[in-house]
Amino acid sequence: MNRKTASRISGAVGAVFFLMQAIRPETANPPTRPGNALKDRYEVPAAVEGVFNRACADCHSNRTRWPWYSRVAPASWLLASHVKDGRRHMNLDDFAEDISLKDICREMRLGTMPMKSYLFLHPDARVAGSEIQSVCAWAQNAQEK
Ligand code: HEC
Repeated sequence: MNRKTASRISGAVGAVFFLMQAIRPETANPPTRPGNALKDRYEVPAAVEGVFNRACADCHSNRTRWPWYSRVAPASWLLASHVKDGRRHMNLDDFAEDISLKDICREMRLGTMPMKSYLFLHPDARVAGSEIQSVCAWAQNAQEK
């Protein structure tokens, strides 16, 4: 490849990258209506709440911490779609009545939640076996408020 071709290709790649930035997904966190959170419906021990806040809240709450790369396409598109999808399935701040707490336990036991791609960039969100135990024990016996 000669230099001219190489510079044309890199120019084209740069232009596409630049244009991609124009498509910005919504990343404003929605407001939380009071009284609808998981902890408004159930007694949630601090240890369990700590696990949820650390490992789940970025995708399953209205308190998403958006990292810097969430402003750069195409990462922004991927993150926004995970958060949108995550919130639709379960929102800790707007907890739908039909969600079974046992599903939370199941997802964690299977290791499908937190998502693997998320753990890669957020190693602090890894959950220990003992934490999964605590969540599952809570899910079994959770008292409704
Ligand atoms: C990086 C984002 C992300 C993180 C972090 C995350 N989830 Fe999810 N979660 C999703 C997405 C996206 C879905 C919906 C698609 C799917 O089921 O894979 C989902 C679905 C779920 C569901 C519903 C499954 C079903 O059967 O409908 C549960 C329950 C769940 N997550 C629990 C958790 C728990 C508990 C944590 C923390 C330990 C967690 N998630 C962390 C993104 C995430």
